[in-house]
Amino acid sequence: MDFKSIRTAFIEFFQEKAHKIVSSAPIVVKDDPTLMFTNAGMNQFKDYFLGNKKDEVKRAADTQKCLRVSGKHNDLEDVGLDTYHHTMFEMLGNWSFGDYFKKEAIEWAWELLTEVYKLPKDRLYITVFEGDSKESLEGDEESREYWKNHIAEDRILNGSKKDNFWEMGDTGPCGPCSEIHIDLRSDDEIQKQAGDELVNQDHPQVVEIWNLVFIQFNRMKSGQLEDLPEQHVDTGMGLERLVMAIQNKPSNYDTDVFQPIMKKLEGITGIAYGNSEETDIAIRVIVDHIRAITFAISDGQLPSNVKAGYVIRRILRRAVRYGFNFLNVKEPFLFELVEVLSNQFSEVFPEVDQQKELIERVIKEEETTFLRTLELGLKRLDSISENLSSMVIDGKIAFELYDTYGFPLDLTSLIARERGLSIDEKGFEEAMSEQKNRSKQDAQTDKGDWIVVNKGENVVFRGYDQLETSSKILRYREVEEKGKKAYQVILDQTPFYAESGGQKGDSGFLTGSDEKIDIYDTKKENDLIIHFSKKLPSDLNAGFQAFVNKKKRSLTENNHTATHLLHAALRDVLGDHVQQKGSLVSDKVLRFDFSHFSKMETEEISRVEEIVNTKIRENIERDIQENVPISEAKEMGAMALFGEKYGDFVRVVTFDKDYSVELCGGTHVPFTGQIGFFKIISESSIASGIRRIEAITSVEADRYINEKLDELHEIKEKLNNPKKPVDFVESLLEDHKKLQKQLEAIQIKESNHLKEILKSRVSNQNGLNLILEEVELPSKDALKNISFQLKNEIENLIMVLAARYEGNPQIGITISENLVKEYGLNAGQLVRSLAAEIKGGGGGQAFFATAGGKDASGLPNVIRKAKEMIEEQLAAHKN
Ligand code: SER
Repeated sequence: MDFKSIRTAFIEFFQEKAHKIVSSAPIVVKDDPTLMFTNAGMNQFKDYFLGNKKDEVKRAADTQKCLRVSGKHNDLEDVGLDTYHHTMFEMLGNWSFGDYFKKEAIEWAWELLTEVYKLPKDRLYITVFEGDSKESLEGDEESREYWKNHIAEDRILNGSKKDNFWEMGDTGPCGPCSEIHIDLRSDDEIQKQAGDELVNQDHPQVVEIWNLVFIQFNRMKSGQLEDLPEQHVDTGMGLERLVMAIQNKPSNYDTDVFQPIMKKLEGITGIAYGNSEETDIAIRVIVDHIRAITFAISDGQLPSNVKAGYVIRRILRRAVRYGFNFLNVKEPFLFELVEVLSNQFSEVFPEVDQQKELIERVIKEEETTFLRTLELGLKRLDSISENLSSMVIDGKIAFELYDTYGFPLDLTSLIARERGLSIDEKGFEEAMSEQKNRSKQDAQTDKGDWIVVNKGENVVFRGYDQLETSSKILRYREVEEKGKKAYQVILDQTPFYAESGGQKGDSGFLTGSDEKIDIYDTKKENDLIIHFSKKLPSDLNAGFQAFVNKKKRSLTENNHTATHLLHAALRDVLGDHVQQKGSLVSDKVLRFDFSHFSKMETEEISRVEEIVNTKIRENIERDIQENVPISEAKEMGAMALFGEKYGDFVRVVTFDKDYSVELCGGTHVPFTGQIGFFKIISESSIASGIRRIEAITSVEADRYINEKLDELHEIKEKLNNPKKPVDFVESLLEDHKKLQKQLEAIQIKESNHLKEILKSRVSNQNGLNLILEEVELPSKDALKNISFQLKNEIENLIMVLAARYEGNPQIGITISENLVKEYGLNAGQLVRSLAAEIKGGGGGQAFFATAGGKDASGLPNVIRKAKEMIEEQLAAHKN
């Protein structure tokens, strides 16, 4: 079976067992502050498990794109070193939401593995949870009993909490699990050592393939386990490992999942897999990482300097660095691998194929930039090595290389070793943990557990057609935001729109019997609508009226609808390759990021504005359809966005069915006329192939235009109101240029004149030519020009000029080079002592130095003092 048929067999197996086949959630998580990336198939069902949302189905199955590179499940450091961990992998999973439990989950897993995939039964092992006294958890005897129906008892092993109690993160749904492991070693090896001794011992060929989790608890912030209202099943099987087992290959990398990318890489580097441990690790790292990078970008996560973007950037750099160091590739190469993935996954994850060009561009640009940084970093390391006082590189410096240049410690160590140096690793770790602490403080808010006030299940959003509701508080929690205490409140029904799809959350207030509570923001956490406030009502159980700030909401709606109109106009003017890559809609501004490969021409921008403003004036009526089957919506021409999670039924927002049809959960104006006026205020690049437009509407656009007109008016007034201001300014500039030229000619003349005067003032003392004069300079450069000219024209020169230019004092000191040597005179030192006389500072070299200052009245003193100092020094020399 090839890997595609293995995946299909899984899906079909569970489809037959009445599971609904859902699509993979995006790999980048948007609405869950506890997660950056999808790290397990169950993430998208978290709210079902916790009972925050009524499950729409009882059984589901899918293949989920997962990424384990941050947080609780982080395999990054193992990738490449071993042959069975990955950053990005596909997790095949089946779920029961309060429906079947251990018995069926175990039976079906066994049936699929042994009857469909025909894995040898005598190579399988099972682990079950042995219990944990500290958590007061009993062993999972129930699962053991079910397993005994299928497999000999001595192949069922006990597992500790670490291996057999699965948790999604520090908080969230969790429960005991039962894992299926397989022993893929040869018979000979098995003879020598029994497989059960190697289960969970990091053996590359005795590996876990499937994890059946029995979700029963919620891990709370306090660390306690809370019983969930229902019991669920959450299973996850890594496709890549399963393929290795079925295809009976020595490692995941030997399967048809990885072979095509490895072949392509070999074509680029000329280095085949299997040459040396060092190059093999590099190859594994690269073919693994390119998958993570490609899938993250295709789901909308660009590499950047913050949060999820930074994680992706670091993975990319890690891959480049392994290529650079071990495979000797000094040019961008990762981007060339994207093509293999776009072909391999075109059926299940078409988003890669559909955005191939964009993904390649983004990766190539990142590679180019990093390769430059890498070179700079190597130079920095060179200069550090040269200036070391001991044979140890300071931990702080190693950290700087890591932080600024993206040099992982092992790279710095390697280069250091090549130069006979070592690294203070402890110092590095200290610097690293300091930074981690800092970023922890910047990052998330610290949250307490939810405190239930009223029981209630689904939170109802009424804000599409109501801006006011009567509401009850269901629960709240205390949070710390940037060091300040705040509260998050859940209402049973709410008119407040929670930030999503780019639209900022509503603000407003709650009124109780005799108090008013400000709500300063509204955000989503999965499907919960969370209201933020600085204080809690004194009576939590009172009834409240919830009011949305109408003006702000209405201005925000102007911008949201304008964003849709803009999106359609961009596709009209630039072409269908324009895809939304991000958006932000507030009451003040709208920001729209989209794929397009060159800067927009001025005419294109005007054309887009013109189309949008025409659509505004057409006063098109909003047409919103709820609960449209997704296939129907797509037929209507609705634009779906990559990296968004859509259910089977979607909301379709239309402004003129032939113009703008989008899948959108946001709020919109009833008629486009309300937007008033649309104006683009900037167009720029945010990454290779991605442009950003910022625009304003309605009152903000009025204000902007008026400001510009006022500015123009003011300029015209200053010019005495010419009829054609542009022509007038052009002629002024022309005149300015002419005058400038004339002035320069005059200045040169004057400067020559001054030079001649100075020449006539030379006083000769014992063969030395001294000029000590106060002068008025004709131009800014005159001091330097005259000094250099006189230095060439007069031998044995010591010249101090106490000058003035446009009223400001300057000092210039020039000394012939032979005198510098012979008498130890130094213009730089002299000027530093003299600068005090004009309340200034300066410096330079031994033969020429200058100073500037604030007090021109000190200029005569400069000459006097200079004379004394020079005479003193000459006299000292004589003696
Ligand atoms: N959530 C479990 C895991 O990730 C099973 O899907 O292993």
